[in-house]
Amino acid sequence: MSEAFLDVKDLRVQFPTEDGLVNAVDGVDFAVSKGRTLAIVGESGSGKSVTSQAVMGLVNRKSATVSGQVFLDGEELISARPEQVRSLRGKRMAMIFQDPLSSLHPFYSVGKQLVEAVRVHQDVSKDVALKQARDMLDRVGIPNPDRRLKDYPHSLSGGMRQRVMIAMALLNSPELLIADEPTTALDVTVQAQIINLLTDLQHEFGTAIVLITHDLGVVADMADDVVVMYGGRIVERGNVDDIYYRPEMPYTLGLLGSVPRMDVDRAERLEPIPGQPPSLIRLPKGCVFRPRCPYHELVPGNRCAVERPELLPVTPDHAVRCHIEPARRREIALERLGVHAGATGSTLMEEK
Ligand SMILES: Nc1ncnc2c1ncn2[C@@H]1O[C@H](COP(=O)(O)OP(=O)(O)OP(=O)(O)O)[C@@H](O)[C@H]1O
Ligand code: SF4
Ligand SMILES: [Mg+2]
Repeated sequence: MSEAFLDVKDLRVQFPTEDGLVNAVDGVDFAVSKGRTLAIVGESGSGKSVTSQAVMGLVNRKSATVSGQVFLDGEELISARPEQVRSLRGKRMAMIFQDPLSSLHPFYSVGKQLVEAVRVHQDVSKDVALKQARDMLDRVGIPNPDRRLKDYPHSLSGGMRQRVMIAMALLNSPELLIADEPTTALDVTVQAQIINLLTDLQHEFGTAIVLITHDLGVVADMADDVVVMYGGRIVERGNVDDIYYRPEMPYTLGLLGSVPRMDVDRAERLEPIPGQPPSLIRLPKGCVFRPRCPYHELVPGNRCAVERPELLPVTPDHAVRCHIEPARRREIALERLGVHAGATGSTLMEEK
């Protein structure tokens, strides 16, 4: 048993479809301790949401095969009974979904749903639950919480709905919170409020947070550790400084290339990664990033096309999946982003 509050080992999720087997999550390992934030970043379709749904026991086992191990405070959940996982969900672990409407019931008022969420896990009266619901709406920055309790989800703006869902996730002070793109639908000021709220709650309750986001600025603000996913696999992992200032995997360099930088003109600095993410049905034999990688020719013998790189450590915290020698990878990062070789952080982002 490890010390991490959440410990995910060799997680795999496959969906059988008419076109073939979709390998949405293909052997993912990560761990998060209490009070820490792990960010999962990667392009659309890389398996971030399916990974988090599998952790929460929300992948339908009738339409998918889930394997590997998920330990929550030492208790294994993939092989646990569904009732067992359900009793942990909403109490010890909670999730903020990418799409708020998918987790709010259209026919019930906000108040009724929040009260219900409290009373499923706590033996308290309706009045006590209502007070908790009201206080939490207040904490997530919802004006007039008493009035909002009576509203129905569809009558709220997108930002308000997102906050209601965040309130619902936080109601029972979960020890693990998975936040899937929690701020995408919100304007910048509200985004900052929500990030501050999550950080405050983390300090107060020692919550372990898994933050899924496209926004590398949010990652820099909140995360302690980062995993970069591509094609259902982790291609680089490290602490936040490793990923920002000592990145090595060409895909990570591509992601960071689209982050605003202080030292490059606004017009030329946002360069999305050319090409499309891979189909997860028939993944290439070698490196999944090979069709889009500008550096594969640096590796002799067509190795990138035929041999799958392992996720190998460069330091105890930092691991990279790429056939290029570490020293050469660092040179490339320096040429490409001006990072590495003792960069202190002054070159990347800061501006948001
Ligand atoms: N029920 C399903 N049946 C078949 N394929 C699925 C199913 N759910 C997800 N997938 C596939 O799994 C892959 C990973 O999806 P996932 O939603 O995890 O991506 P993501 O990284 O969260 O992307 P985004 O950033 O757009 O939210 C995608 O190719 C998706 O089409
Ligand atoms: S293994 Fe090859 S194709 Fe993959 S990222 Fe490294 S250089 Fe590029
Ligand atoms: Mg997603």
